[in-house]
Amino acid sequence: MKILGIDIGGTGIKGAVIETATGELVSERLRIESPRPATPESVGIVIQSLVEQHCWSGPIGIGFPAAIQHGVARTAANIDAAFIGLSVADYFARQTGCPVYVANDADLAGLAEMRFGAGKDVVGVVLIVTIGTGLGTALFGDGRLLSNTELGHIVLDNGLEAEHYASEAVRDAQQLKWKEWGDRFNRYLVTMEKLFWPDLIVLGGGASKKLHKFASRITVQAPVVPAHFLNQAGMIGAALFAEDKLRAAGQNLP
Ligand code: BGC
Repeated sequence: MKILGIDIGGTGIKGAVIETATGELVSERLRIESPRPATPESVGIVIQSLVEQHCWSGPIGIGFPAAIQHGVARTAANIDAAFIGLSVADYFARQTGCPVYVANDADLAGLAEMRFGAGKDVVGVVLIVTIGTGLGTALFGDGRLLSNTELGHIVLDNGLEAEHYASEAVRDAQQLKWKEWGDRFNRYLVTMEKLFWPDLIVLGGGASKKLHKFASRITVQAPVVPAHFLNQAGMIGAALFAEDKLRAAGQNLP
């Protein structure tokens, strides 16, 4: 079925209609700069604009950059704190008049990769890391997601929070060369490997397209591969998540 998938990021909010049977985009991908501050009101205006530009009135899946428990935002590292405690799903559903399903952005990028991408049929532990304004993580064991892992906030052995040391935003702000940043990111992956021993590490977000520029700095034992859907994985996973929720609610879908 077709579902509008939206990925809310720190710099851009992207949306496209996704065919959930294949994960393919069946519309143009639209991107709008993230508003600053990214309050519920200002983000809501962007969501509404994406809905209108796609002439959309069906279900919507949204990847949101925070821990999301049953539709409610619990954290707000790269989004306005006014979201904390808000039922993001209900808020955007009221705004758009469409059924809305929301989960953590990295978890949803992971969902797309596990179903149709780099993690398909992989047995064991798969760690997805999305590299953007923040560092997002999704952790799967034998294909099952342990949601809201928030491992981008782990403190590294240099005393710094990983997201403040090795995100794409930090690379940009400090104008780090890819190899320099690669060493930082590797420090993060080494920490992850010591704790979780993943069988596969999948990189999503903007930097996933640039893996060739820093691959030489990566020393972990697990294979490290770019997301099959690169930085579109979040949008695709958002649509898949909405479909899963609709089916779980017993809706008779095509
Ligand atoms: C947030 C996560 C999110 C990640 C990527 C982090 O700052 O805490 O929830 O998945 O950024 O957007």
